[in-house]
Amino acid sequence: MPILKTIDLKKSYKIGSRWEPALTGVDMEVEEGEFVAIVGPSGCGKSTLLHLLGGLHRASGGRIFFDGDELTALPDFGLAAIRREKIGFVFQRFNLLPTLSARGNIEIAMKIRGLPTDDKVVEILKYMGLGDRMHHKPREMSIGEQQRVAIARAIVNKPKLLMADEPTGNLDSDNSNRILAEFKRLNEEHGQTILMITHNSEAAAVASRTLRMRDGRIIED
Ligand SMILES: Nc1ncnc2c1ncn2[C@@H]1O[C@H](COP(=O)(O)OP(=O)(O)OP(=O)(O)O)[C@@H](O)[C@H]1O
Ligand SMILES: [Mg+2]
Repeated sequence: MPILKTIDLKKSYKIGSRWEPALTGVDMEVEEGEFVAIVGPSGCGKSTLLHLLGGLHRASGGRIFFDGDELTALPDFGLAAIRREKIGFVFQRFNLLPTLSARGNIEIAMKIRGLPTDDKVVEILKYMGLGDRMHHKPREMSIGEQQRVAIARAIVNKPKLLMADEPTGNLDSDNSNRILAEFKRLNEEHGQTILMITHNSEAAAVASRTLRMRDGRIIED
């Protein structure tokens, strides 16, 4: 049984008085332990797809099954629980909380799940090369540093599914390689299932499988 499966998944956005399709029918399956890259031109629907799969937005049509639940049939509170317990999300625009420090942003993700915030936070910050940025707020950090905080926040709870929207998009090659190596290690050593959007062919090469999208659908697997 795949851990994630979609059937004819659709999403349209309302622009003024008309509806514009962003996803026109996505059928996909991801097995537990797979590391999947999603590629395709800007505007083809990659982020939209990830937001639906992560339970952040509602589909306009079709179905999503994840780890024994049908997400498209769950009420909002059920979806919120799955997001909290099982999904780690690295957003294209980070979505760090502006009033909290790097450390605070990671701790809050653990507190929300009722996990103790312990030395693990310091450890992961150091591992991400942020040992001396622990007390900085997002606006006091570079874009690449904020990106690394967002990644640390997503992986600290060991989610069942890790989703990342262009996680290396703002990083120099050293930091980019460090993140990719970490994703690969999580995948190989811990069987972490990963879905990663990328424009970077080096990043896609780290994955075990690539889905290519165009015009709101998957055109190549
Ligand atoms: N909230 C929204 N309201 C209206 N239209 C939207 C919204 N979000 C996305 N779209 C549109 O849906 C389409 C798909 O957007 P999406 O963000 O999924 O693309 P993407 O493949 O992630 O692109 P990029 O590589 O530039 O991040 C685009 O045409 C975009 O303009
Ligand atoms: Mg996007």
